[in-house]
Amino acid sequence: MALRNIRYEGDEILRKKSREIAQVDERTRILMDDMVETMYANEGIGLAAPQVGILRRVIVIDLGDGKVYKMVNPKITQKSGEETAPEGCLSVPETRGTVPRPMNITVEYLNENNEKVELEAEGLLARCICHEIDHLDGILFVDRVVEDVEEG
Ligand code: CO
Repeated sequence: MALRNIRYEGDEILRKKSREIAQVDERTRILMDDMVETMYANEGIGLAAPQVGILRRVIVIDLGDGKVYKMVNPKITQKSGEETAPEGCLSVPETRGTVPRPMNITVEYLNENNEKVELEAEGLLARCICHEIDHLDGILFVDRVVEDVEEG
């Protein structure tokens, strides 16, 4: 595995739309492993491929509960409820803000074995998935902030 360089707000790649992956192959698995390693090294709980300069629809998440999610072409198929809570982002250092997100979602994606998975998520996991999918569409959490929490 290898660390990849994080891209920061102001880098135009973070504003571009990522493309789907037709088939999850070894190259995709290496990307996901590198993203997980990079996420851990930077003490993040989620990372999207554009944040390491790759415009592909790939995200990884680890909330620290022992589960590592690696999602290819994630798509939210259902959502309900709303909760407003603080967020941060490795690409927008030292900035936090409160963002409204759905409380419950259903997400479909391909896993590392190219198998279709349907997952129901709530609370922080749902929030994190929505945040990372936003990255795939060139959206940063600061675009959705309703109230700044703190700076620095
Ligand atoms: Co982010």
